[in-house]
Amino acid sequence: MLTSSFAPGEPVRPLVIPSTCDESLTAYRSWLFELSSGVRQREACSFDPHFDDFARVRLTDMVPETPWNSNIHYHQLLLRAIPNGAKRVIDVGCGDGILCAQLVQRGVESVVGVDTDADVLHRARTRFSGLPIKWVHGDVLNPDSLPHRQYDAVLSVATLHHMDAATGLAHLADLARPGGVVGVIGLAANDWWDLPCAAGGQFMRRVASVTRGYWEHSAAMAWPPPATYREMKRSAGEILPGVRYRRHLYSRYSLVWTRPVAGT
Ligand SMILES: C[S@@+](CC[C@H](N)C(=O)[O-])C[C@H]1O[C@@H](n2cnc3c(N)ncnc32)[C@H](O)[C@@H]1O
Repeated sequence: MLTSSFAPGEPVRPLVIPSTCDESLTAYRSWLFELSSGVRQREACSFDPHFDDFARVRLTDMVPETPWNSNIHYHQLLLRAIPNGAKRVIDVGCGDGILCAQLVQRGVESVVGVDTDADVLHRARTRFSGLPIKWVHGDVLNPDSLPHRQYDAVLSVATLHHMDAATGLAHLADLARPGGVVGVIGLAANDWWDLPCAAGGQFMRRVASVTRGYWEHSAAMAWPPPATYREMKRSAGEILPGVRYRRHLYSRYSLVWTRPVAGT
């Protein structure tokens, strides 16, 4: 169970009337959101320097018991992909640390969460302070910051589009031991032929956000993704021969690849 102080049934906080028009709109939207979803929203963006301290304090108690968003939705796919008996697992671009916490819940002995953003790591560390997770302030593109070919599973969610994806993928692969797995959930840009599928996915995402209770992460975002789905599929196939690429409903793709044991 993940930490939460916003228990089901707890009343939504009253709508506070702010002083400016902009603030009013933001507060009103957030209040409507809470009413419809049951999830308390962040009052401020974590990457807005003016609100950072506030966000840091408040976020520690704002993860609902079963947080949902379209990244978290696909965590199960990654958790199922890790090899049986995996002991060392790393989440690259761990953000708020939800996947790391789920890995500990699954019984993984050594869980590492790495992120370039010291603030989001601080929030993750604070929120999951009771769990044996090693939080590393590091850059996956820096070959010296993480041990090579050591991990049973190398996972990464919504992070590859923050960098040159092909380079990032090669670095992720380099962290996996022979027989180890690389599992990625990613975002990509649409080609025109993707648009009907994207529109359907967007609609379903809206429905799920209301019915399941949307939780907004506090990590940095990068938009639009530089590579398209087609480009991601092609470069993943070149960098990770035999990779399983899948396209998913809620505007995500996944990659699952096992580093060959022989000839590595
Ligand atoms: C959109 S967030 C996703 C966070 C989390 N995985 C989730 O699903 O909520 C992307 C994260 O990747 C991190 N990141 C970006 N470039 C990185 C790099 N080169 N190495 C490690 N982390 C990186 C960002 O700081 C950010 O926290």
